[in-house]
Amino acid sequence: MTEQRELIRPDVPETGVADLGLFGKPLFQDPSARALARVGVVDVGSNSVRLVVFDGAARSPAYFYNEKIMCALGSGLSETGHLSPEGRVRALSAMRRFKKLADGMGLTELSVVATAAVRDASDGREFCDEVMRETGLRIWVIDGEEEARLSAQGVLLGWPGAYGLVCDIGGSSMELAEISGGRVGRRVSSQLGPLKLRDMKGGAKARQAHIKEVMGGLQEKMGAQRDRLFLVGGSWRAIARIDMLRRGYPLHVLHEYRMTPRAVSATVKFIKKTDPEELRALSGVSSTRMALVPYAAEVLSRLVKTFKPKDIAISSYGIREGMLYEQMPQRLRDRDPLIEACRFAEAKDARMPGFGKTLYNFILPLFKSAPATRKRLVKAACLLHDVSWRAHPDYRAEVCFDNATRANLGGLKHSERIFLGLALMHRYSNKRENSRFSDLFEMVDEKTRAEAEVLGKAMRFGAMLWMNPEEDRGELRWYAKKKKLELRLTQDMLPLFGEVAEARLSSLAASLGAEVEIKTIRARKGD
Ligand code: LMR
Ligand code: MG
Repeated sequence: MTEQRELIRPDVPETGVADLGLFGKPLFQDPSARALARVGVVDVGSNSVRLVVFDGAARSPAYFYNEKIMCALGSGLSETGHLSPEGRVRALSAMRRFKKLADGMGLTELSVVATAAVRDASDGREFCDEVMRETGLRIWVIDGEEEARLSAQGVLLGWPGAYGLVCDIGGSSMELAEISGGRVGRRVSSQLGPLKLRDMKGGAKARQAHIKEVMGGLQEKMGAQRDRLFLVGGSWRAIARIDMLRRGYPLHVLHEYRMTPRAVSATVKFIKKTDPEELRALSGVSSTRMALVPYAAEVLSRLVKTFKPKDIAISSYGIREGMLYEQMPQRLRDRDPLIEACRFAEAKDARMPGFGKTLYNFILPLFKSAPATRKRLVKAACLLHDVSWRAHPDYRAEVCFDNATRANLGGLKHSERIFLGLALMHRYSNKRENSRFSDLFEMVDEKTRAEAEVLGKAMRFGAMLWMNPEEDRGELRWYAKKKKLELRLTQDMLPLFGEVAEARLSSLAASLGAEVEIKTIRARKGD
């Protein structure tokens, strides 16, 4: 048995600012250090060894660097009891490289965890010692429950309010953890990793019986878990890609991709009957990964049959994001990852950072009766409304749509991505006909498309009037019943309301099916 540790000490509150865990400095506490903070983590998994460097300034994980090497440390482990010799050599050289990269990036610390393969192998400790000798990097070998906890925390990073069951599949293990109320509850670890299953003797029948038996035991420990199932891990992501291929799903973003239990069973069948080479070519899954997919598919099929979740979601966030979450003080965790990411983008790329908020307040009367979930997207759109201004004018609208829908954003459903993308597209363009993204627009209904159009046009108009975020010289009023859009301007502001602005206001009114009225008002107090 190699050394195992809990990443946080049980005697300190999990959420306290004082909770430094094993990672040392609370990087986010000092606001002046935020812009500089970068957090590097390495995950020594049974399939892959991976370095991720987060840009610590953002609440939403901003990926500064991400590299994966498929070392397959756990290959052959169940027969031999030791790490794959070839995998060891590759993993060691990966660690050397990662250490050098981290030094080059000016990271003062790299948090390294190792999971199933290293913890189970007879030479796991020897490997850690070798890494320490060669690179000076200390590997924390975590146990299955800690692995489950960190993965589940990764899910919470993206969906702070998520509840349900998180399932992380690696090479040599599979973990389950319950989440609710922003916390990780019960958790269990099993040996149902695809590398382990591939090494099993006795053929498909025996293997499937084994999976069924183990899963039954896990269900006894976890109890009923019929809410959402969150899937974490490269092998699940590969299956999700194949599911997208089978369905002809147009948005190739894995994070927050949803599957139904039915779709899973159809995809498992599809995997069985399709030639792996063909699947690989069409889905873009690597050959190393594809070799594991059939085993992972058997596990997924049993998992879904056993727990009968009402819905299944892919999470690109897992153990590595969980390690980032571990280092955040509670008040940072409590922030909305989407809004934080948009603020970060505004600060970095907009011409007038801070104007997004003014714009939001200006157009808000149009959305006053919208639900909070929609207002949140309006806010995100306003923060992002100017971040693509550098793109060529002829392409801006499409660039906006593309950026928003493919962005590495958390806390955003696919339908919400499309809404945001459409709104930002209409910030530059009145039309959406004949777009090469038409199949993506179809992912939301006509009403949603119309709302996005109103938002985009409102931003397009608002952006013309409000050059100085400090100034408050007028407002927009919306009388939904009377279908009247009223623009109230101070005398001082009138010159800004030129021809183009007027045309944009009319276009907004047309989308609302409204009449426009312009009123001149006196400057309000404070002006
Ligand atoms: C592993 O065990 O390596 C996993 O966490 C990740 C993967 O690539 O399957
Ligand atoms: Mg893993």
